[in-house]
Amino acid sequence: MTQSTPVLIDTDPGLDDVLALVLALRSPAVDVRAITVVAGNVSLARCTQNVLRILEVLDLDSPPPVFPGCEKPLSPPVVRAEHVHGSDGIGGVSKDFPVRHLQARSTHAVTAIIDAARRLKRRLTVIALGPLTNVASALAQDAPAMRGIGRLVVMGGSADGRGNATPSAEFNFFSDPSAARAVMRSGMPVVEVGLTVTQKAILPKARFDRQLALVTREPLRSFLAACAEPYFEFCLKHEGADGCALHDPLAVAAAIEPGLLSTDRLHCDVVTAQGLTRGRMLVEAGGRDRDGPRIQVATAVDTPRFIDLFLGTVCSP
Ligand code: RIB
Ligand code: CA
Repeated sequence: MTQSTPVLIDTDPGLDDVLALVLALRSPAVDVRAITVVAGNVSLARCTQNVLRILEVLDLDSPPPVFPGCEKPLSPPVVRAEHVHGSDGIGGVSKDFPVRHLQARSTHAVTAIIDAARRLKRRLTVIALGPLTNVASALAQDAPAMRGIGRLVVMGGSADGRGNATPSAEFNFFSDPSAARAVMRSGMPVVEVGLTVTQKAILPKARFDRQLALVTREPLRSFLAACAEPYFEFCLKHEGADGCALHDPLAVAAAIEPGLLSTDRLHCDVVTAQGLTRGRMLVEAGGRDRDGPRIQVATAVDTPRFIDLFLGTVCSP
């Protein structure tokens, strides 16, 4: 068996973050060394409690440390997604799954990210599932260490310009466009997993329900069912789809099996000015070196293989 990849996950749970974290924490292919928390879908405090909740539900022998990070974006305004994820960030189910014993560390997430980058260097993969505030802040403090990691897989942006937070901006980039622009143009080894591919990574509800029945572990099975229900409901009501886009789980899967995605090396920029295009991702294939470094932009996904990987890991007995 190949050695598992050390990863640090930066997250803002978030219903799809829940599914992404369970995928990472149940996968033998990745070794989750730390989880850092960023405000995004809901407040930092609620996102932090949701990470602890997921770890308690999974009842791991040695859960990874959890480090709270930035509460506000690099530049205002603060944008949340409670209309998607509920006021508690996980569809209102937090009341049924209280955090009983785990606690977050007192070290700031930015410090934890820099420490991991300095220690693990090219062995480290950072997976960013929320606004890039923590990552950009770590970059500002120690750019050489951050440029020296193996990979930064980012769920965010939209190479074809279609948005979900606004007509032209994806939520994570819209929440903190200054952080997104800094990271996209930093020279870090970025793999951008945006709506262009995540909106093709649809999990059919019927298939999920069938696979979930195979999960024997409690309270994991009940927790997954409770979190998935409001997410499927939102997708059906707002997108008319009898399935949900697995935005964050696809970013984790890209770290587990990079071959799931096809990518192009493109110049990338992000609109930071207030207005209709705030947070929009701009890509240019040709470009000139002065446009800044190129990043890997995901352009296609092997959806059947991804869904098999996701269900085979998350819903394993
Ligand atoms: O646009 C989707 C992204 O925004 C996901 O990370 C979701 O959790 C929200 O944060
Ligand atoms: Ca997220």
